[in-house]
Amino acid sequence: MADALKISPSILSADFSKLGDEVRAIDEAGCDYVHIDVMDGHFVPNLTFGPPVIRNIRPVTEKGFDVHLMINPAQPHLSDYAEAGADIITVHVEADADLDRSLQMIRGLGKKAGVSLNPSTPETAIEHVIDKVDLILVMTVNPGFSGQSFIASQVEKIRCIKAMIGDRPIEIEVDGGINADNVKMVTEAGANVVVAGNAVFSGDDYAAAIGALRDAAG
Ligand code: DX5
Ligand code: ZN
Repeated sequence: MADALKISPSILSADFSKLGDEVRAIDEAGCDYVHIDVMDGHFVPNLTFGPPVIRNIRPVTEKGFDVHLMINPAQPHLSDYAEAGADIITVHVEADADLDRSLQMIRGLGKKAGVSLNPSTPETAIEHVIDKVDLILVMTVNPGFSGQSFIASQVEKIRCIKAMIGDRPIEIEVDGGINADNVKMVTEAGANVVVAGNAVFSGDDYAAAIGALRDAAG
């Protein structure tokens, strides 16, 4: 793999009573991005937070805000997330019908456009937008909750997506159940960004947890 692995800790696993401190802590621990899981209780069976929370934590760090929208519809809200401080805005291929327009809107807002696939969605679902994305987020759990088990069948999908993107400067991010035991599997398949919720936030030493992921990826 040419590029160094990027780690994007998911604040869904953080202590919300001190969210600013948690974001500062993962920044100081050496994260690359901050993964922000937005859920609507409709597209996924869980409800988290929206733009006001993102706006409030924006001044805490200069690390990129990697905003994962698990909401349907997403399109009416894209500008709100851009204004709140997102750097990457990722929408699900299974959400709004006109994915192509959502991605163009995100780039039009000056942000990086990401598309995500649920485990049951084949990689062919994003072939038609391959030239309009900056990041492809492969879910290795069914979205909704942190702390679920990694679905190993998705590794082959990562490999297919890596082949599909060829020389295009597109990041491949993997999200769900990533830990030091399975991170190498996904990086070898082509992923260069990994999301880590429980793997980072379940212990007290975030720097050690991030370091363990980098070491395990090799
Ligand atoms: C799941 C979220 C993930 C999740 C990751 O719907 O998109 O980002 O919080 O948490 P872990 O790493 O614990 O699976
Ligand atoms: Zn996520």
